[in-house]
Amino acid sequence: MSISIDLTGKKALITGAGAGIGREIARWLARAGAMVAVNDIREPHATSVVNEIINEGGHAITAIADCRDDRAVDTMISTVADRFGGLDIAVNNIGMIPNNRRLKPYVKYLGEDWRDIIDQNLTLSALCGRAEAEVMINGNGGVILFVTSGETTRPSPFNAAYGAAKAAINHLVTTMAVELGPSGIRVLAIAPGTTMTETVSAAFTDERVQQITASTPLQKMVDHDELGRLSTFLVSDLARCITGQFIIADAGAFLSRTRPENLTGIQSENVDETE
Ligand SMILES: NC(=O)c1ccc[n+]([C@@H]2O[C@H](COP(=O)([O-])OP(=O)(O)OC[C@H]3O[C@@H](n4cnc5c(N)ncnc54)[C@H](O)[C@@H]3O)[C@@H](O)[C@H]2O)c1
Repeated sequence: MSISIDLTGKKALITGAGAGIGREIARWLARAGAMVAVNDIREPHATSVVNEIINEGGHAITAIADCRDDRAVDTMISTVADRFGGLDIAVNNIGMIPNNRRLKPYVKYLGEDWRDIIDQNLTLSALCGRAEAEVMINGNGGVILFVTSGETTRPSPFNAAYGAAKAAINHLVTTMAVELGPSGIRVLAIAPGTTMTETVSAAFTDERVQQITASTPLQKMVDHDELGRLSTFLVSDLARCITGQFIIADAGAFLSRTRPENLTGIQSENVDETE
């Protein structure tokens, strides 16, 4: 007997799906049969992903909005729900991975940087989730999946605001699961390890990539494709008894201690750029 994941007829929205992890999640949900709304702030990127999905035989539309704008988010979500006739699956994938300029010792953070990182990694997703939950409560329930980070499983030296924001979403997932479970809504997060998206490959040196690879028990980086598959399982009925959890998908990196010697490269880059 073989098992397949069938999302036929499900209506899904993925934020920040014009590139990277969100793109792969959108493609995998569509392959499983879901109708997919591809959100991104960059219209050409969203359109390109929609075309990829359609070329693979799937069903997708663009949902262009800047998710930092609460009103734009509300409008986008109600427009998607109107066009699809509801919303069953929402993946809140957007997050801002701080670039080298923003990596700094905790005591060096300025309020402006701290607030921006928290806004783009916690508030933005929390408010998307709120609007999605409202639509699902008035519909047939559903699944809300957040993308957090493997950074939440250990301290985040030189990246405190990002780690704190992503960890806060892991906690938000528990609260949402308790409040929304009776309305038939499951709430989950995936916590990926370092994944070679364009953004990450532009920021990381080869040496850093080798350090990360060597530090994981599986001796690998995470692949976007793997996160697409995992997300497809989690939003499907095969996972219908799971809610209120974050699932670590980091090739076992959480089992390795944070080793200060692995962070020296980041520290010196940062000092050069900020002092
Ligand atoms: N790549 C990694 O190593 C890694 C590891 C752990 C967690 N994550 C998390 O995964 C998520 C996706 O990361 P990624 O590396 O795929 O990012 P990415 O930069 O490759 O893609 C993000 C997409 O979101 C879009 N976007 C950004 N801000 C937006 C906004 N305000 N409104 C609408 N669209 C917006 C961008 O245009 C882009 O297409 C983030 O939450 C990140 O924190 C990434």
